[in-house]
Amino acid sequence: MLKKIIFIVAVFTAPMLLAQGTEAPSKHAYVGAEVCGMCHKTEKAGKQFVIWKESAHAKAYETLKTEKADSIAKAKGFTTKAVETEACLKCHVSGYNIDASLKGPKFKMEDGVQCETCHGPGADYKTLKIMKDKKEAIANGLHFYSTEEERVALCKTCHNSDSPTFDEKTANFAAMWEKIKHVIPAAK
Ligand code: HEC
Ligand code: HEC
Ligand code: HEC
Ligand code: HEC
Repeated sequence: MLKKIIFIVAVFTAPMLLAQGTEAPSKHAYVGAEVCGMCHKTEKAGKQFVIWKESAHAKAYETLKTEKADSIAKAKGFTTKAVETEACLKCHVSGYNIDASLKGPKFKMEDGVQCETCHGPGADYKTLKIMKDKKEAIANGLHFYSTEEERVALCKTCHNSDSPTFDEKTANFAAMWEKIKHVIPAAK
């Protein structure tokens, strides 16, 4: 009996252990930055879409198409172009390795590091009713970062020494946040 229980536990936990270290598997679908932008564009909302669009994150896919990127990939021993190399895509875009059924019509991998890369795939939290209720939004897949520690931990999932161009000595996470900060203006 005990053996049987151990067997069952092993069968069910093995896939969870294997999943660690890759982009977290999700049952929620991606909608794409433009869909988030419909409500997160105005001055009153805090212009999150506009700020993101002008940031380096929106260009992270384009960066992989440059000669510099190809030479970095080559130096690392990859024989494919940077933009076709999984080991580069994993930090530069969202959704390169997900099932087509989890990509909405407006989702584009070419949008690079986008809203849903940091906030979680949004198909199930993007409605106004759910968005207005933070608890509900989180229950439906929204990732939110309440403290500076949580925020820096998020940055460090990509801004770390696995990145060929990362420099530990010059990395300043507070200054980096200032460059991409996109807060909701305080209600007057
Ligand atoms: C239909 C409009 C709408 C869409 C589409 C939408 N949002 Fe929102 N979102 C809102 C509203 C309204 C709020 C609440 C703003 C407030 O508290 O002032 C909000 C709040 C948020 C918050 C802050 C949570 C909180 O309560 O502090 C995040 C993060 C967020 N949205 C991300 C996204 C992302 C990412 C997408 C795309 C996947 C998205 N939103 C799509 C309307 C929308
Ligand atoms: C999913 C991976 C990922 C996450 C998470 C991430 N970044 Fe980035 N970030 C990138 C990539 C890739 C680039 C390079 C984009 C380019 O130049 O094409 C970048 C570039 C930047 C840049 C411009 C270059 C620089 O160092 O000045 C800033 C600023 C930045 N990120 C801030 C942040 C902050 C702050 C966080 C955490 C809140 C964060 N990033 C989280 C992947 C990520
Ligand atoms: C662990 C995450 C990660 C991986 C893996 C990664 N990058 Fe990046 N990449 C970043 C981040 C973050 C930045 C922003 C600058 C920095 O701090 O390194 C960046 C910036 C870049 C830049 C712009 C640098 C500049 O100063 O012009 C290029 C080019 C680049 N990466 C190419 C690649 C290539 C090619 C690969 C695959 C061999 C790769 N990256 C793999 C995270 C990553
Ligand atoms: C690189 C990661 C990253 C990307 C990309 C990103 N966000 Fe955020 N976002 C964060 C973090 C971290 C916070 C938490 C803010 C804090 O620590 O004060 C946040 C906060 C927010 C908030 C709440 C602000 C507040 O004042 O409560 C909204 C709304 C939001 N993001 C929407 C978006 C939308 C829409 C996009 C795409 C257009 C987007 N974010 C792209 C990391 C990101």
